[in-house]
Amino acid sequence: MISEEDPSSGVIHRLAGKDLLSLDDLDTLQMHALLDTAQYYKAHREVRPLVGKTLGLLFRKASTRTRVSFMVAMYHLGGEAIDLNPNVIQVGRGESVKDTARVLSRYVDALAIRTFEQAELEEFADYCSIPVINALTDLEHPCQILADLLTMKETFGTLKGLTMVYIGDGNNIVHSLLLGCAKVGMNLNIATPPGYEPLSSMVARAQEIATQTDCTISLLKDPEEAAKDAHALYTDVWASMGQEEEAEIRQRAFAGYQINDELCALANPRAIVLHCLPAHRGEEISEEALEGPQSRVWDQAENRLHAQKAILAALLGPST
Ligand code: CP
Ligand code: NVA
Repeated sequence: MISEEDPSSGVIHRLAGKDLLSLDDLDTLQMHALLDTAQYYKAHREVRPLVGKTLGLLFRKASTRTRVSFMVAMYHLGGEAIDLNPNVIQVGRGESVKDTARVLSRYVDALAIRTFEQAELEEFADYCSIPVINALTDLEHPCQILADLLTMKETFGTLKGLTMVYIGDGNNIVHSLLLGCAKVGMNLNIATPPGYEPLSSMVARAQEIATQTDCTISLLKDPEEAAKDAHALYTDVWASMGQEEEAEIRQRAFAGYQINDELCALANPRAIVLHCLPAHRGEEISEEALEGPQSRVWDQAENRLHAQKAILAALLGPST
C-alpha cells in the first residue's frame, strides 16, 4: 500500500480500482493529491506498494517516454510490466475489444492503452474489470499533463494563478491541458492558426471548470499576444501521430507558431519552456529555445516517471 507517511494517501485511496481515461476523471483535490504523491515517490525511490502486480501495455502507436516510464514505474514500485504488442496478440487479427478486455482482466492488474479513438479506450474500460489508463489517444494525454503540472509545481512552488501559454496545434495535449489547468486554477492562453483550434466541447468544459477555480481560458490567434506574462511556454508537434499525410499542409498553416527566443522575450522573465516531446526542431520550437536556459523539457520528461508512479499506486492500490 501507499505509505501512510504520504500526506495524500486518504484522497489517493479513493481512486483505487478506477480508470483514468480523461483528466476529467479527477477532481481538483485528487489532482493535487496525485502531484503530492508523485513528489513523495520522487523523494522515496525505495517505496514498493505494488509487489506482485502486473501492468499490461497495449500500444497501437509508437512511444518512447510513455512506454519506458510506465515499465520502469512498475519495476520501481515492486511490480512488473508486460508488453501486449497488438501486432502479436490476437486483437491485431480482429479479436474483438470486448473479448480481449475480459480475458486480459483475468491476467493483469491494470492496462495502459495508447490508441487512436477515445471510443476504443472507453470500450476497453467498459469490458475490463481492472483499471484502464489512457496512455494517449487522439483526444487526450492525461498522464503527460500531470507530469507537466508537476514540473510547474517544482519550478514555482504553486499552480494556482500561474499562466500557461500553449502555441501550436489544438490537439490531444491541448485538450488535457484545458482540463488540467482549469482544475488547478491555472490560466491558459492557447494560440492556434484558424482551423486548428481545440474541440469546442473541451474548451466549454474547461471554461465551466474555470469559473469554479477562478482562472481564465483564452483562445487566441496571435502567439505574441498569448505569450505575454507567461510562466510557461508550451508547444507540441504540428502533425500528431496519424496525421502524417497532412504534414506538408500543416507546415504552411503553422508557420510563425514557434517557440523561439523572440517569443520567450515576451514572457515573464522566470518563464520556463515545455514540450511533451518528441520535438521537431526548427518547426514548433527553435533549437535555441529547446536547449536554452529556460528549457525544462528533460525534467518534464523525467516527471512522466514520477507522475505515473503516483497514478499506478493510486489506481492499483487498496481502497479504504
Ligand atoms: N510525450 C510522450 O508521450 O512521448 P512518447 O510518445 O515517446 O510516449
Ligand atoms: N500530439 C502528439 C503527442 C505525442 C506525445 C501526438 O499525438 O502525436
